[in-house]
Amino acid sequence: MEDLFGDALLRWQRIESILHTVFSDYGFSEIRTPALEKIEVFSRSVGDTTDIVEKQMYTITDVSKEVLVLRPEGTASFMRAVVEHQLHQLAGPQRYYYYLPMFRHERPQKGRLRQFYQFGGELIQDPSPEADAEIICLVDSLFRKIGLKDFRTRLNSVGCVDCRPKYREVLVQFLKGHPIHDNLCDQCKLRLERAPLRVLDCKNESCRSVAAQAPRIPDHLCSPCSAHHSQVQTSLKALGVPFENDSTIVRGLDYYTRSAFEFTSSLLGAQDALGGGGRYDGLSAQFGKAHFPGVGFAAGMERVILALDAATGNEAPIRRPSIFLAPLGPRAFDLLFKLSFDLKRAGLQTEMSYDRAKGLKNILKLADKRDSTWTVVIGDDEIAKQKALVKEMKTGTQSEIALSEIATFLTARMARAT
Ligand code: HAM
Repeated sequence: MEDLFGDALLRWQRIESILHTVFSDYGFSEIRTPALEKIEVFSRSVGDTTDIVEKQMYTITDVSKEVLVLRPEGTASFMRAVVEHQLHQLAGPQRYYYYLPMFRHERPQKGRLRQFYQFGGELIQDPSPEADAEIICLVDSLFRKIGLKDFRTRLNSVGCVDCRPKYREVLVQFLKGHPIHDNLCDQCKLRLERAPLRVLDCKNESCRSVAAQAPRIPDHLCSPCSAHHSQVQTSLKALGVPFENDSTIVRGLDYYTRSAFEFTSSLLGAQDALGGGGRYDGLSAQFGKAHFPGVGFAAGMERVILALDAATGNEAPIRRPSIFLAPLGPRAFDLLFKLSFDLKRAGLQTEMSYDRAKGLKNILKLADKRDSTWTVVIGDDEIAKQKALVKEMKTGTQSEIALSEIATFLTARMARAT
């Protein structure tokens, strides 16, 4: 779990403001759900045999003996909130986004944390393939606006309750009946019994070569799923969104039906998924009597930032121009103390040292450390002349400005600098 501050946090904030804008451009409004949920919210819906539910949930038994979980993912919490507030009863498709911390007790490594931030979008009440294409196009827009160029969009269909069990049988038969069965890693040998589709997205080299020879799920879809899958592709082509078909994308959560997709970056190393998502038409039934379709995605903020940093080399964040006030003597102190708040109230980022014993050299040193754009120096001489010395720190240029004009002068300069 990470502490966030300083320049790193400024880079986060730049991205956060892009997220809010792009989600809003696409007609998504924000939703914030609590960090703690009842355990049933996830165990039922994400799937009892998934890694998340089996091993990764932070569970808390509270004083009333209720078992609560720190949210490991956003979609189940979102669906709980939708049903609780009857949001699916509102007219037409509904679009929501979230930007929230998630918690998974995983083995930490680069790009894999125990508290991490996800931004995600969910579109409910629209069963059409165009809705799936919209979500993928939204992610493409988000990543590009953020400045990510090197990412790949992989698309698959995991079928529905009709065709997936049949494919599952075909796959298990293939995996068990073939000599390559021995090539599977120990975990995949277990998966074969409980979640055979997950063998397809195992990262292990020998499992990958088995997956490459395995029957492909798109060849085993029922005709409505097949038609849906091809229309998603047609829509993405019409929108000019680059993607590739990848029949090994099966996702690690149980609620998906039809489209499943992942966004990866070669800049990330082993944990190369920037984000993932898909359609989850059966999920609402886990939360009550209502049945309504949904499709969505979530991306990992830390991974997005790692990929950006790898591409751009940890770019210095853009800072707001700022002012540092340097009083020399008690009269100047009182004058600048008042001025500093006039400037703050006028919306100019301003700081003044309250250490009355500090000499000019030390004040300027501090102003330099703060990366201030201007320093305003006033001593008794300046007060006598009713003028201040305004120094532009980058160039060293100094100007004498009438005391009554400082705020106007700096406001005008500031407007030019932003
Ligand atoms: P997910 O694939 O489990 O999907 O997570 C989405 C993204 O969250 C991953 O691709 C990754 O970037 C990031 N992520 C996951 N675990 C970690 C971790 N331990 N440390 C850092 N980043 C991590 C979901 O969570 C689904 N709810 C997505 C979805 C939304 N499907 C439909 N709607």
